Amino acid sequence: MATRRPLVAGNWKMHGNRVETAALVATIRHGVDAFSVADVAVCPPFILIPLVAEKLAGGPVFWGGQNLSTHKSGAYTGEISGSMLKDYGCTYVIVGHSERRTLYGENDSLVAEKYGAAQAAELIPILCVGETLQERESNRTEDVVARQLNAVIRAHGVSSFKHAVIAYEPVWAIGTGKTATPEQAQDVHRFIRGRLAVMDKSVADGVRILYGGSMKATSAGELLAQPDIDGGLVGGASLSADEFLSICRAAK
Ligand code: PGA
Repeated sequence: MATRRPLVAGNWKMHGNRVETAALVATIRHGVDAFSVADVAVCPPFILIPLVAEKLAGGPVFWGGQNLSTHKSGAYTGEISGSMLKDYGCTYVIVGHSERRTLYGENDSLVAEKYGAAQAAELIPILCVGETLQERESNRTEDVVARQLNAVIRAHGVSSFKHAVIAYEPVWAIGTGKTATPEQAQDVHRFIRGRLAVMDKSVADGVRILYGGSMKATSAGELLAQPDIDGGLVGGASLSADEFLSICRAAK
């Protein structure tokens, strides 16, 4: 059984300005022990990435994007490519976040393309999957998560998960203050790992599966203690350095 190094990633969404961000990353950098057993990353809005890269350079905290173009470069007004993120030292990029899927019409095949574009740029995609409340209430959670995973597996193969992270984010828990119970989350995490294991046991054992959806310092300990929960993708709580650092500490 592989030991998986936990990862706690902050998804700042469309929040922050230069002054707030400089203060936030300084506190996070200071608080993250270079010898910690968990990886820590922050994903700022694109425009703040150069500032974050400058402030975090040479330290233990990684950074990444929240989205990327499917294209490498060219006439795509308003888009940012994987190689541009890489150029600014990004390690990770979130793909298929439910807000992108629902507000910007990103379907499974587009998400799979973005996942491939991330890996082509040598970024580690954090692939988000998760069901809506309606889907959960009609017992379709596993079908939905399987469909979202399959789109990526079909396009890039199960072995691509050697260089990817999965985030299970129940849509009903995102930004709502309604965290999944540790049991609810563990059930889906186990299901995801099990599906991959059918295809490739060692990939399944090695891939980190993060939980996301109203994770807070108070709920992180129990969630992160579950055998198949390898970290968190943290939205709201990542905007407070104290709260975020408490979650990072819980990941040890
Ligand atoms: P939340 O967001 O922690 O604010 O629920 C998580 C996410 O959207 O990644």
